[in-house]
Amino acid sequence: MSAVINEVAVEVNYDDLIPNNVDLSNDAQLKKALERWQPKYVEWWNEAGPEDAKDLEVYLRTAVGVDPKGWAKFGHVKMPDYRWGILLAPKEEGRTIPFGKHKGEPVWQEVPGEYRALLRRLIVIQGDTEPASVEQQRALSATAPSLYDMRNLFQINVEEGRHLWAMVYLLVKYFGRDGREEAEMLLERRSADEDKPRILGAFNEETGDWLTFFMFTYFTDRDGKMQLESLAQSGFDPLARSCRFMLTEEAHHMFVGETGIGRVIQRTCEAMTEAGITDPNDVEAVRALGVIDLPTLQKKMNFHVSVTSDLFGAEVSTNGAAAFIAGIKGRYNETKIDDDHQLNNDTYPVLRVIDGAIVEVAESAHNAINSRLLDDYHKDAIGGLKRWNKSIQKAGFDFEFKLPFKGFSRKVGVFAEDFITPDGQVVTEEAWNAQKDEWLCTESDDAFIKSLMVPCKEVGKYAGWIAEPRVGVDGQPLDYEYVKLH
Ligand SMILES: [Fe+2]
Ligand SMILES: [Fe+2]
Repeated sequence: MSAVINEVAVEVNYDDLIPNNVDLSNDAQLKKALERWQPKYVEWWNEAGPEDAKDLEVYLRTAVGVDPKGWAKFGHVKMPDYRWGILLAPKEEGRTIPFGKHKGEPVWQEVPGEYRALLRRLIVIQGDTEPASVEQQRALSATAPSLYDMRNLFQINVEEGRHLWAMVYLLVKYFGRDGREEAEMLLERRSADEDKPRILGAFNEETGDWLTFFMFTYFTDRDGKMQLESLAQSGFDPLARSCRFMLTEEAHHMFVGETGIGRVIQRTCEAMTEAGITDPNDVEAVRALGVIDLPTLQKKMNFHVSVTSDLFGAEVSTNGAAAFIAGIKGRYNETKIDDDHQLNNDTYPVLRVIDGAIVEVAESAHNAINSRLLDDYHKDAIGGLKRWNKSIQKAGFDFEFKLPFKGFSRKVGVFAEDFITPDGQVVTEEAWNAQKDEWLCTESDDAFIKSLMVPCKEVGKYAGWIAEPRVGVDGQPLDYEYVKLH
């Protein structure tokens, strides 16, 4: 079987060592700096990227342009040879800063001196998450439930690698010497490392099994989407254009999460039906079938929503306010919101616990920017749950996934000191601890999930705990050799 390569116009210069649409060949200094960084990047990939994967030929898409209709081509590639490039979405002529105190002024093509530190920090934090997730996922291919899934994992890994390139390009091109130093440090930190951990908490958690991987790509990559969406509004145009193109790739990551969890649910429902089990809460009976029970999936969701919510930072934050006012980081769908986009006299309702009750407090809309993005995230995340619930209903079972309340099990922000149940009841620490095993996975839940993680590397076959996908990648059949193992 031969790979079908889509015929698309190559807009990217692939003759350069680093494929790009940023005219790198005419910027000798930048080109030199990036060519010096590249071997270190490959070294990082080989050391901290996917384990035992160097010789595999993987059916990957590579970005070859930024035209929404034909931006990628597919073909088998060995991963260290993947062409990581620098791609920016097309420039919008006459674009103006859409929000904040500079609203209406022409966007910046260079970093404004007064916002240099703020911008650098935001780019470094975004950049740090990209290699972190590759590190978290490095051991997963050993237990892939199919070659199709293994391919999707690697696809996400190489694209997170490209997202690192996107941020490094900005650092090196626009931030001189400190930018170059930050670019080096992005390769030095390691997920869960004691001395040099990744910057944000959720990116130091283990992604030790495939259910966690699907939850991560659905819930945590969605934080990525929200952050990129608000940076795509930025008055600093090169950042906005980088993020806009990254969002094209990010959509696939969340697709892998949503369909992955959907396939787990489908398989569980099928197995319950075959075995004549009518109560989805009969955990032991369901697990005996070698599939993951629905209550355990709910616990996994609770965990991932809470650690991901922490990634939005404190709900009420002067840093968030500063980035908005400066025109550096906007709101989700900023240009579609019907207000003055400056919010100088506006408030935003933020929930918090006062005297044991959850109350709404009107905060300055500037200070509540993070809170608003978190609310948008929760609204966005609910879509998948609705579709999963529909499939459970269709299979004839009485069970419904619920998104946990945003204050559940938080370590950052207004709820960090509170004890709140997934359905939003404020309780005492003792009561919370007494019930937490009903809400979050226990060691034995995790051990059960791990016990199912046996690899399935036969072409067209799928592990018993997950249904096969509805369609293959890029129009290929389900029994396509998505990864050539040799
Ligand atoms: Fe990413
Ligand atoms: Fe992603």
